[in-house]
Amino acid sequence: MPAYKAVPGAAQRYPLNEPAIGTAYPESVYPQNAQLPLLFQPLTIKGMTFKNRIWVSPMCQYSSDNGYATDWHLAHIGGLATRGAGAICMEATSVVPEGRISPADAGLWEDGQIEPLKRIVSFAHAHDTLIGIQLSHAGRKASTQAPWVHSGLGHGHSWVATEEEGGWPNNVWGPSAIKFSDTYPQPKEMDEAHLQYVEDAWIKAVERCEKAGFDFIEVHAAHGYLLHEFVSPLSNVRTDNNGGEPLENRLRFPLRLISRLRAAWDKPLFVRVSATDWAEGPEKGEDGLWKQWGIEQTKFYVGEMQKIGVDLIDCSTGGNWVHQQIPVGPGYQVPFAEELKKAYPNLPVGAVGLITEPDQADGILKDGKADVIFLARALIRDPHWPVFAAAKLGVAVKPANQYERGWSDMLDHTVINSKK
Ligand SMILES: Cc1cc2nc3c(=O)[nH]c(=O)nc-3n(C[C@H](O)[C@H](O)[C@H](O)COP(=O)(O)O)c2cc1C
Repeated sequence: MPAYKAVPGAAQRYPLNEPAIGTAYPESVYPQNAQLPLLFQPLTIKGMTFKNRIWVSPMCQYSSDNGYATDWHLAHIGGLATRGAGAICMEATSVVPEGRISPADAGLWEDGQIEPLKRIVSFAHAHDTLIGIQLSHAGRKASTQAPWVHSGLGHGHSWVATEEEGGWPNNVWGPSAIKFSDTYPQPKEMDEAHLQYVEDAWIKAVERCEKAGFDFIEVHAAHGYLLHEFVSPLSNVRTDNNGGEPLENRLRFPLRLISRLRAAWDKPLFVRVSATDWAEGPEKGEDGLWKQWGIEQTKFYVGEMQKIGVDLIDCSTGGNWVHQQIPVGPGYQVPFAEELKKAYPNLPVGAVGLITEPDQADGILKDGKADVIFLARALIRDPHWPVFAAAKLGVAVKPANQYERGWSDMLDHTVINSKK
């Protein structure tokens, strides 16, 4: 009779999962696992092996208390860590208080914020799930309200979190003093001392990530937040060497920051980019000047990041132009990931955006358009997506011990099918 095994070294007594949750059972028991779809094949990046290619995309929960993670985060992230995801990237977490999108955002600007994150990280690790964090600064899109507050009754048209509501609309910063929209705060232009302050805060946050035990860091350089604001000609009209033309000027601050982050962090370092602003008109005008951010500049930017030693590009789009026109549909951002993959075949790329079906996700990998799939809303609707995906693709994967009885029919069925 096998003994009840506990996870060695864990903070509490948890039953050990063998094999790891979300990985294939041995082929000797389930012969169909001899040939795994790519979605369930491991991937090694910088010596770290991710057990499958279904990764949790960062998702703001607007549930932090002065930047501190709460038990909501433990329940939410813990729920995903026990259901087979290959990796979890925790939400946009600001390196300075005024870099939060909303007053309820996550932060890592002081040491006290390490402890609740450490608890979540050790829970994920006890369940064989690698976990990272998205470090961020919201730039000109800071001091806004959580979506449900904004859209709730009585908040009117404005997105601004006022001082009475815990916001800081007079302490909002960007590359240039250009508002995102009439309903957003008025940003002030950052000077060199401010850039240095933000950069140093980012490095301190990286040191705190190390103490919390995170496996990887993702830099948020997308969605119209600070780093995206710097690279786009729509939000950066500076006349110093951090703006305007040539393109190298707009990339200077983000690349200088990413270089320092690379030097400060020796585990996997990822960057989420927006590959286009989705603004009207071409990326480059007939006059030879860049008119908006787009894939051509993104390719150059990503090439520079590869030289710095970035380990993966998570390819998203949009968020910097209030009038953006996005042709939303299944996998609508995948063509951008594919372009990056073609340009840099040796650089791992993540695809994200309306990827909802297991065949669709595996197809993107099989076609060589990306190396991993980030999922957000599909996992909100169904945190068990990885195990359902396995069933759909004919793979027998390990559910958590405690949940096995919920999946026994599926596993029996896959055994029967494999013996036919
Ligand atoms: C509730 C929610 C919160 C989000 N928060 C973040 C975030 O913190 N950082 C980020 O880069 N993207 C964020 N996103 C975007 C997602 O990571 C993802 O890129 C987007 O939802 C498209 O993927 P999907 O179609 O699988 O949802 C968020 C999305 C949702 C639904």
